[in-house]
Amino acid sequence: MSQTITTAVFPVAGFGTRMLPATKSVPKEMLTVVDRPLVHYVVQEALNAGIKRFVFVTGRNKQCIEDYFDHIPELEDSLEAKQKLDLLEAVRSFPDAGEAIFLRQQKPLGLGHAVWCARHVIDAPFAVLLPDVILKDDGFLARMVQLHEKTKKNVVALQRVDPEQVFKYGIVGHKPTDNDEYEITSMVEKPSVGYAPSDMSLLGRYIFTPEIIDLLEHTQAGKGGEIQLTDAMQSLLLHQGFSGLDYRGKLFDCGSREGFIEANLDLAYDDPALRATIEQWVRDNMDISSLFSQVKVA
Ligand code: G1P
Repeated sequence: MSQTITTAVFPVAGFGTRMLPATKSVPKEMLTVVDRPLVHYVVQEALNAGIKRFVFVTGRNKQCIEDYFDHIPELEDSLEAKQKLDLLEAVRSFPDAGEAIFLRQQKPLGLGHAVWCARHVIDAPFAVLLPDVILKDDGFLARMVQLHEKTKKNVVALQRVDPEQVFKYGIVGHKPTDNDEYEITSMVEKPSVGYAPSDMSLLGRYIFTPEIIDLLEHTQAGKGGEIQLTDAMQSLLLHQGFSGLDYRGKLFDCGSREGFIEANLDLAYDDPALRATIEQWVRDNMDISSLFSQVKVA
């Protein structure tokens, strides 16, 4: 059976206010985690899940995202001539020719509006990936695709959050179906603490049937005065099923300073060429004994 999910939408028009002042002139999606921009990680995750068509919903001052996915023949020739093959591999553009589509949101009306802007290139179930979020398990989207193929339902990635933090996320009501799989029973965008249906959040990976586009067309501005994807999802839930898949791996919210620093440290620590640098920095700068000072000796 050929794979059903071949298109992914990447909303990359946001201002990145949490990362100002850097994002005055650098799109937040181009901020570098270790040695590659954030958007590289999500595109790689989509490639790993068999995606063949990459739709970027961009805004003003985001042209360098488009450039990033282009070839630079002079650079590639030079690296090849010098036999710097690992670097050559790293700079080779992906997706392949003709597989990336760039379109403009034009007005910052919210995540739901950004996804709706892709309507003319959506003709089948598709994925949406929020590039702020790096999943360390970059095979998770592939599992969501498999779950969609099994259930034919919309699929959302979930992560449990601290009940005090629910106001930052889309939150779902749910019933367990199998191990880490759930049936979604309700969705609400950024509820107040104490009013959330659970502590399970929408983490920023979605698979939708094309009907979401029709609903987005009629979705009024919601939380924060923006057209919210979660509101259209709640409308779709009234006549189509949603499966949830609980992500239990490490996740970095790189739209925040904390998540961005954690991603850099964690992914650099995994790189054999950088691990010693981090270990040395810790030895030189931290009083290791303080880490153990609260451990009680029996
Ligand atoms: C968006 C979604 C929200 C989701 C979150 C995940 O919010 O609207 O439902 O939980 O991404 O990161 P944002 O963080 O863009 O405000």
